[in-house]
Amino acid sequence: MKKKLFRITAYILLTFSTLSIKADEGMWIPMLLEQLNQKDMQNLGMKITAEDIYSINHSSLKDAILLFGGGCTAEIVSNQGLILTNHHCGYSNIQSHSSLDHDYLTNGFWARNFNEELTNPGLTATLLIRMEDVTTKVLAAVNKNMNEIQREEAIDKICKIIEKEAVAGTHYKASIKPFYYGNQYYLFVTEVFKDIRLVGAPPSNIGKFGGDTDNWMWPRHTGDFSVFRIYVGKDNKPADYSPENIPYQPKKHLEISLKGAEKNDFTFVFGYPGRTQQYLTSFAVDLLSNYDNPTRIKMRDKRLEIIGNDINSDKLIRIQYSAKYASIANGWKKWIGENRGINRLQAISKKQSFEKQFQEWIEKDENRNKEYGGLLTEFDRTYKELKPYTMGSVYFSEAGLAPEIIRFAWGFKKLVDQSKDTKLKPEDIQNLADQYKKGLAGYFKNYNVNTDKKIFAELMKIYFEDCDKAFQPKEFEQIKTKYKNDFKKFAEEVYSKSFFSTNEKITDFLNNYKAKDYKKLEKDPAYRLAISIYTNYIDNIQNQLISLSDKTDSLYRVYVKAIMDMQPEKRFYPDANSTLRVAYGKVNDYFPRDAVQYKHYTTIEGIMQKEDPNIYDYVVEPKLKSLYKSKDYGRYANKSGEMPVAFIGTNHTTGGNSGSPVLNANGQLIGINFDRNWEGTMSDVIYDPDQCRNITLDIRYCLFIIDKFAGADNLIKEMTIKD
Ligand code: ARG
Ligand code: ASP
Repeated sequence: MKKKLFRITAYILLTFSTLSIKADEGMWIPMLLEQLNQKDMQNLGMKITAEDIYSINHSSLKDAILLFGGGCTAEIVSNQGLILTNHHCGYSNIQSHSSLDHDYLTNGFWARNFNEELTNPGLTATLLIRMEDVTTKVLAAVNKNMNEIQREEAIDKICKIIEKEAVAGTHYKASIKPFYYGNQYYLFVTEVFKDIRLVGAPPSNIGKFGGDTDNWMWPRHTGDFSVFRIYVGKDNKPADYSPENIPYQPKKHLEISLKGAEKNDFTFVFGYPGRTQQYLTSFAVDLLSNYDNPTRIKMRDKRLEIIGNDINSDKLIRIQYSAKYASIANGWKKWIGENRGINRLQAISKKQSFEKQFQEWIEKDENRNKEYGGLLTEFDRTYKELKPYTMGSVYFSEAGLAPEIIRFAWGFKKLVDQSKDTKLKPEDIQNLADQYKKGLAGYFKNYNVNTDKKIFAELMKIYFEDCDKAFQPKEFEQIKTKYKNDFKKFAEEVYSKSFFSTNEKITDFLNNYKAKDYKKLEKDPAYRLAISIYTNYIDNIQNQLISLSDKTDSLYRVYVKAIMDMQPEKRFYPDANSTLRVAYGKVNDYFPRDAVQYKHYTTIEGIMQKEDPNIYDYVVEPKLKSLYKSKDYGRYANKSGEMPVAFIGTNHTTGGNSGSPVLNANGQLIGINFDRNWEGTMSDVIYDPDQCRNITLDIRYCLFIIDKFAGADNLIKEMTIKD
């Protein structure tokens, strides 16, 4: 009965959805919260103000939120620059410090003092200083007579000027990003920290508990967190790594609440969602769900099978390939879920009927007809044109670039090009060869030639058999003539004859490298194939793809403007574009399928239920088990004495939101966002309030692991924890 009522309310909400957006959907712009969302947020239970979340006049929560690396979020939790993010966000850094002797990935890592914290070259953390709506300034540079190329050039030019002015005389960086496909523009002024050190990480059987089996799924029991620290120069400003650097003193760090969240409690997520495509037309969803996704899925099936088998049979390969496997599997599983969601929601026909309404609205008015009359036909035509190129690029990236040897060999093109440059001196060439030599150890540390060879044989076969011949690399001609379609033989030959398959061969080759040796590279089978695969993409696919997606972008610019005109009462939100956003909603359970209800939180009981010493993903650390047995949860247990692990809510999130703080009505940290449920992964394209949930690591489990499991009370003491 209750369920039925719920459905009816959902139905009423849906029918009004053209007037006002469904509660829970949306990733909102921090500086517009007061105007657009504050009331709604407070009605849902929020006790703070928009100004407490984002302010340029005084410190606010935004001063504690970071873009971590290029694609995750992190938050500052102490006045000494301590930051929290996900284990899977810190994974490659944890991995880079790991070897068979110091296997931090498997065993975890805890720095007992500042001196033990580990440096991570290349890793950055970016803080937003301020944002500004610069739409008027940017669009003043364009006029109706410009074609798309002129328009783009004019916009680029004015953006560079505004960006430069915005940060003149400071150490900040500035960038302007388009919103609503270029109907609006915002300027972001940021501070980029460059010395980020690893402080702590749980063992993988906590940080990645459930592994790829549980990934994208609820109920979940993953302790998906890792701990880093920002270091700065003596002036508290960003600096390159130096042993002299000191911990950063932030304007703001998050307060942590141990109260947790009950069902229906208000929560919000503050972070950097990467990319969503809410405004796609039916033509685009068709291409995505019926062609693009299934083809990618099929090719990743193969790669995962090969790597998976090798990981399970060899400890070293596990270290070398776990991160690679996880990232291949992550996209693969997401696309499978996304397709199921798109189909279940009948997204294509929903979009089609919206487009029908849209067309009717256009035809009601002569001016509209002039402006938008041919828009949908143009979309249809452009997507038809786009399809073969899209598929060509799918085969290029998912098959052509699947073998590491191809990507590795391609990297040597610069050496070949420079060797042919008669203006360069022999020393220059030798220096360049030495540069290459320096990179070899890092590459081969994580390389297994047999695994790669198997991937090569399988994926080249798919590329050859399934991809349109017009989009295949020239070198493929020999597959038939020379190898009689025997892909094993093809692989054997390439890997045995190439310099690129072992560290010894390529090191030998680079020792005493002379300019004329480029000829040997040009004869190398892996190099030749790499050049052929890349040039095929560059010459036959890339440019057409760019110009056609410029075309769709400009169509979307007009389309989005038109649908905003059509629904003046509706509150719109821009697609995610790796800029800081706020999503809000409530802690809530859901009904994934007939007769099944998923509760809104999990506990340590579930870890013990999933435990299986014979399955890598479900091994439980003995120490965790003994804490469980003695119920030694300290102050981290919930009111009922349970040890909570994760919870779900209706906050609209996407890739990039990983590591984002999940905050309560008072703006206190109660968890770290790390995933979505499988039934809801289509939320990047179409949101369903019934099914879409974000998955959050309960901060109490995170602290329990740091405190009780790792005994790192030095970290606990640094944080501001409220009972
Ligand atoms: N699905 C999550 C996100 O998209 C977590 C991925 C990492 N975990 C994994 N087992 N591969 O990033
Ligand atoms: N796991 C994702 C991330 O890494 C989050 C998501 O897609 O929901 O950002």
